[in-house]
Amino acid sequence: MLRELEEIWRRAQAAIAAARNLEEIEAARVRFLGRKGELTQALRRVASLPAAERPLAGQRANEVKEKVERALAERTGVLRGEALTRRLEAEAVDVTLPGRPVMLGYRHPLSQVREEIENIFLGLGFSIAEGPEVELDYYNFEALNLPKGHPARDMQDTFFISEEILLRTHTSPVQVRTLERLAPQLPVKVIAPGKVYRRDDDATHSPMFHQVEGLAVDTNIRFSDLKGVLLVFAREMFGPKTKLRLRPSYFPFTEPSAEVDISCVICGGEGCRICKQTGWLEILGAGMVHPRVLAVSGYDPEKCRGFAFGMGIERIALLKYGVNDLRLFFDNDLRFLSQF
Ligand code: PHE
Repeated sequence: MLRELEEIWRRAQAAIAAARNLEEIEAARVRFLGRKGELTQALRRVASLPAAERPLAGQRANEVKEKVERALAERTGVLRGEALTRRLEAEAVDVTLPGRPVMLGYRHPLSQVREEIENIFLGLGFSIAEGPEVELDYYNFEALNLPKGHPARDMQDTFFISEEILLRTHTSPVQVRTLERLAPQLPVKVIAPGKVYRRDDDATHSPMFHQVEGLAVDTNIRFSDLKGVLLVFAREMFGPKTKLRLRPSYFPFTEPSAEVDISCVICGGEGCRICKQTGWLEILGAGMVHPRVLAVSGYDPEKCRGFAFGMGIERIALLKYGVNDLRLFFDNDLRFLSQF
């Protein structure tokens, strides 16, 4: 019996030492200490030994059992440590590697210019108004003093959806909608940025483009107020040396009307290719709100008057950034868009 216990201890030591991972150490435990394990069975046999041999054999068997348990625990500890080291190595991060650059998006140049325009006018006490892009003939034309058959309707190639419904060709319908909404409150001071649509498509025209409308109505608004506001705008937008020039023009919904030029942003007025040697660049249309527009929108033209203007955002952006082809704004080429 004693020799057999020695043999079991030697085999157990060998098996435990040979275990290369936690599964094998578990197999070794079962082999010796499991319910039918070699040592478990030996311990059972001690009970059936003659009484004289039993104490010594029992004592030895318990010693072997303790030694096997200790050896198992030790080896398990070593193997656990190795497994942990392996996992940590696999998960290791080289903190000295350079990071991956984050791809940041860009604000579209037209959005940037629109926001810049908005901020200038917000600073002058205007608030922002909106209107629908799918508009009624009434707001786009009729209420703006452009009755059916009026020749000035041809100035704007319209996308019609039906007899009475169209894609707005300018932001001026927002003038009428705003006045209708606010009448008879005074003063009215709004700008209305948004998309407009015309049946054009070439290097300088896109079927969809953006305008910002301006409208101020009060008891004593004068043409000089219009000029002053536009001068402040031009200087904030294009620099403090910018000059302004107003030329007489015609719009059915303003009287008098003007086309507004700024001194050329490239040559400063000397004359260059961009301004076609004139020294001036046209940036917007404007005028005093026609009394009929005030009247149909709920305001008494005897008691108030106003000015209005409309500018193209693309045109402002082209001039500000010296871009020569409008289509670049709509091609969504990141090489272009990421430069702003
Ligand atoms: N709506 C005109 C256009 O699109 C611009 C304009 C607006 C002119 C307001 C005068 C007053 O050309």
